[in-house]
Amino acid sequence: MSKHRENQHKPARAGRLVTVGKTDAVPPGRGATVKLKDGGEVALFNVDGKFHAIENFCPHKGYPLADSRLYGATVECDLHGWRIDVTTGECLTKKECSLEAYEVVVEDGWIKILV
Ligand code: FES
Repeated sequence: MSKHRENQHKPARAGRLVTVGKTDAVPPGRGATVKLKDGGEVALFNVDGKFHAIENFCPHKGYPLADSRLYGATVECDLHGWRIDVTTGECLTKKECSLEAYEVVVEDGWIKILV
């Protein structure tokens, strides 16, 4: 059994597309926090013009990953350095602590996340 912290703000899978903002609001190499109406949070990243979304909270101690630094397609948690692949949610530091990734669709300059 994994000892990683349970994410209290993990978005529930509802199969619905949620519009979260315009593409120009998140420049390449940056992340943004997306707060959902149900209380869930997603970290949205722009990797060279392609958008990716994962659970927002680090599986180690829960630091918000959207506020951490992005290296290519890997976000490195600012608190203790755990590394997550933002395209898949895979935790590169501890495989069993991987996060959920969410499908992102861009339509007419709007970013939509499938939650
Ligand atoms: S909280 Fe992210 S590495 Fe510790």
